[in-house]
Amino acid sequence: MKSRLIEALCGVAMCLTVVTCGTQGGETKGEGTMNIERQPFGTTPAGAEVELYTLVNANGLRARIMTYGGIVVSLETPDRDGKLADVTLGYDTLQEYIRDNPYFGSVVGRYGNRIGKARFTLDGVEYVLAANDGENHLHGGLRGFDKVVWRAEPVERDDAVGVKLHYVSKDGEEGYPGTLTCTLTYLLTNNDELRIEYEAETDKPTPVNLTHHSYFNLAGQGTGDILGHELMINADRFTPVDASLIPTGELRSVEDTPMDFRTAKPIGRDIGQDDEQLRLGKGYDHNWVLNDADGSLALAARAFEPTTGRVMEVYTTEPGIQFYSGNFLDGSNVGKGGKVYEHRYGFCLETQHFPDSPNKPNFPSVILRPGDRYTSTTMYKFVTE
Ligand code: BGC
Repeated sequence: MKSRLIEALCGVAMCLTVVTCGTQGGETKGEGTMNIERQPFGTTPAGAEVELYTLVNANGLRARIMTYGGIVVSLETPDRDGKLADVTLGYDTLQEYIRDNPYFGSVVGRYGNRIGKARFTLDGVEYVLAANDGENHLHGGLRGFDKVVWRAEPVERDDAVGVKLHYVSKDGEEGYPGTLTCTLTYLLTNNDELRIEYEAETDKPTPVNLTHHSYFNLAGQGTGDILGHELMINADRFTPVDASLIPTGELRSVEDTPMDFRTAKPIGRDIGQDDEQLRLGKGYDHNWVLNDADGSLALAARAFEPTTGRVMEVYTTEPGIQFYSGNFLDGSNVGKGGKVYEHRYGFCLETQHFPDSPNKPNFPSVILRPGDRYTSTTMYKFVTE
């Protein structure tokens, strides 16, 4: 692949990189140009300036990512006729994200999903976390990684453009021990993947479980519910929950339950079944235990939208995935282009360690210790059929 770097000013936006891709050697399937653009996206009430990065790959896929919450603001992918649509829910402005965001497109941390009773004991010391979901701690607390401004720099690789985000979470933030230094790299590759690489280091032992919370609708954001998407999850087991959505600790077989997605089926097929777990989750809102999770990047889930032919494959190094069917969307969020997000207009596939792991000794450990490095990679790959 031939590449060349041009820096230029284009209007208010700073075009940071234009990489011209050739097709010699079959290394890339694109003939277009990769591009990174940076522009201002507003200011937080505390006065922090927020930037929006626009990434375009050689095939014309486009991702817009902002430094507030590391939020994926939009993600445009082609349907089977090559027509682009934005497949993620979100808002048009920073102010709307700050006012009321049910984690649309967000980075989630220091701990994705719930920690029961907002507390855990580590090395004999009990830590009390911010309780922001009844008595539980959810998605990092009152001001999780989705509500902070990350420092950003553009990233350019042979076959991808991206943005690298940095955030230092202070010792005691939301109740967690240790200063956690985090780096997150979003890459839009010429294989039509949105790849997310997480890294973190700490100066005291602390739980870490970072994830990504885009709500997807492969027919296009705001076009309807997601019940017709056909979903496969590569998992023989899931972690059943109690009434406050905390795992009981059991790893239960999906066999003969509505949780069985080993063969792809429409999300809506079994969601209305009279099933205890579906009642507790108000639909799907559970963690699946991924098969053969050995820390290498492996296929976790696949979603297919029949009317547009869009397919999203999710690969991860994580042992679990939260499938959330947008049960709490109720029409009160008015999103991009004035679209009203009604019940189940989007779904999330959040790669993760299991919820409440700090209180579940039988779950894979989430404790990061000084001198060790937390790494995690997840890839959302877009194809059509
Ligand atoms: C959780 C849901 C929660 C949603 C939005 C998901 O990851 O599992 O219970 O309502 O995020 O906060």
